[in-house]
Amino acid sequence: MNKKVGFTMLVTLKEMADRAAAEAYAVPAFNIFGYEDIAPVVQAAEAMNAPVILAANLVAVKHMPVPYLAPLMLRAAREASVPVCVHLDHGKDLAACVEAIEHGFSSVMYDGSQLPLEDNIRRTKEIADYAHAHGVSVEAEIGSVGYSDPSIAMKHMLSDPDEVDVFVRETGIDAVAISVGTVHRMESQAASIDFDLLQRIQDRVGIPLVIHGSSGVPDDQLRRLTTYRVAKINIGTALRMAFGRTLRDELERKPKEFDRIALFQQPMEAVREAALAKFALLGFDTK
Ligand code: G3H
Ligand code: ZN
Repeated sequence: MNKKVGFTMLVTLKEMADRAAAEAYAVPAFNIFGYEDIAPVVQAAEAMNAPVILAANLVAVKHMPVPYLAPLMLRAAREASVPVCVHLDHGKDLAACVEAIEHGFSSVMYDGSQLPLEDNIRRTKEIADYAHAHGVSVEAEIGSVGYSDPSIAMKHMLSDPDEVDVFVRETGIDAVAISVGTVHRMESQAASIDFDLLQRIQDRVGIPLVIHGSSGVPDDQLRRLTTYRVAKINIGTALRMAFGRTLRDELERKPKEFDRIALFQQPMEAVREAALAKFALLGFDTK
């Protein structure tokens, strides 16, 4: 199935997510940290004729600041043969979102999940108003998807359907990240989605739903998520493991090689293959 009809190649999250929510697929948002992930992720999307979200998180933009990373992401999006959304992941405040928007991102996530509900609503609405005035989509989180790494002091709290409803109505966001059983940075697919809670949230709100921490979701549950109004599935750790583990193998296999371009070839191929496998679970195929 050709899912790119009606899109230009750099698209907003709203365009992409509204369509995904209505159809039986979900768009993966892969965390990228530079050209070595951007290129294989876009190649995988093109091979699957699938839309894709390139997500730059705080770690990525600390290593490669937005003025450097944005042109890379935007070039990849504009030259892709499939729709690509250039997205800021877990933006920490208005300034981070403004910087991304000024550099051409088509979507930002503001993460106020650690704040009391009223503060989360107030700050999210401020960012949504700013982003929408600039033609950019906004995702925000209610409830909190925690981290498997105990040194990361982020609370873990399942989303409350009543709160999700209020949050969505009062902020005007385009997609809502909810906490229904996933945990960030899991290295094995051992999460258990609370599908009953997901259904209750879906019954309350009309906008596309986003699942974070999806590296830990078992394959059968990833497939099942596409049958709900889940439009965006965030995947980071699975691809970082594919790159890092393959790089370690390459270093061991070629102890004399010091050229990182040579060492990066197999890890980039591993990222492409890992992304292809996730696309296949999320409703895409190569036909
Ligand atoms: O925002 C990014 C994600 O939620 C990725 O989570 O690294 O556990 O797949 P993950
Ligand atoms: Zn996340």
